[in-house]
Amino acid sequence: MSTLAIATAREVFDLLRDDLVAVEQELGRDAASTVDTITEIAEYLREGGGKRIRPSLLLLSAHLLGYSGFGAIRLGAVVELVHTATLVHDDIIDGADTRRGRPSANTTWGNEKCVLAGDWLYMQAFRVALEERNFRVLDLLIGLTQQMVEGELLQIQKLGKAVSEAEYYDLIYRKTACLFSVSMRLGAVLADATESQEANLGAYGRAVGLAFQIVDDVLDLTATEEVLGKPVASDLREGKATMAVIHSFAHGTAADRRTIRRVLDDCSFDNACRAEIQQILARNGSVEYAMAAADRYAEQARQAIAGFTDSEFKRALLWVPDFVVAREK
Ligand code: IPE
Ligand code: IPE
Ligand code: MG
Ligand code: MG
Repeated sequence: MSTLAIATAREVFDLLRDDLVAVEQELGRDAASTVDTITEIAEYLREGGGKRIRPSLLLLSAHLLGYSGFGAIRLGAVVELVHTATLVHDDIIDGADTRRGRPSANTTWGNEKCVLAGDWLYMQAFRVALEERNFRVLDLLIGLTQQMVEGELLQIQKLGKAVSEAEYYDLIYRKTACLFSVSMRLGAVLADATESQEANLGAYGRAVGLAFQIVDDVLDLTATEEVLGKPVASDLREGKATMAVIHSFAHGTAADRRTIRRVLDDCSFDNACRAEIQQILARNGSVEYAMAAADRYAEQARQAIAGFTDSEFKRALLWVPDFVVAREK
């Protein structure tokens, strides 16, 4: 990371520090159930930390338009609760055993309890959101939740298949970028934004979210579990073809295609190891190709907010796409 980016990271953190402390307090309140197991699981997930990027986006969006009420804290907690619910379910579906550098909740409590804890977290998110007494908020959250569930389901249907780029983008919009977009829109709704302001902020969130998932998928192929805090090389083992793999499949040699096919069919590296796949990707420039796509979305995000008046919040929003693309976890 450049010196400039580090300075800006600190600036953004300073800008949001008090708000993020308040979001943590709200999340602490929201994690309590009358059933101990649910409280234990919800607390465990909360303590695991995470980047809190979705609440940060919501806060920046609201502040950009001059809103500074409690609603942004409350809805910041709501988008993090929705995110947490999807992570619990996602780790069950993906059979993942680590998350945020610790054993995943399903490893400790088992799938049955975690499915229910995930359901409870979704409903808790809606209960808290209801306190805003705003139908637009509920409308956005309901549409979002359905998109995310549809995204995970479509992904299951496409397992083992060499999907097209168009199918890949549809999937990552639903499972990831939609929540980024809704986080930005919720900030706009709180601030009584005009339709076009909300649309621009939503477009920013969508672009940042697409870049975010493209990078997440690249990290799955290139990172180590120690740094990432969650399993690596898991997408191919689950039969998921992501951007870089799709690129090598389309542009590689017949032998490359056969090797990729084998891993996707087997859902394992038994017959072709991860290093072999990495060599194929390197030879075809596929990681660079995926990262170039992420860079384009980062730029698209910055463009989407170019028309807003300059402020420290706008500067922060201009920094986020760089952070997303350069991150190591
Ligand atoms: C993980 O999201 C799920 C994806 C959409 C890739 P994050 O990388 O934001 O997870 P935490 O909250 O920081 O752990
Ligand atoms: C993101 O996809 C899924 C969610 C929206 C929860 P991944 O399956 O790639 O997320 P990670 O890598 O497990 O965090
Ligand atoms: Mg997963
Ligand atoms: Mg992933």
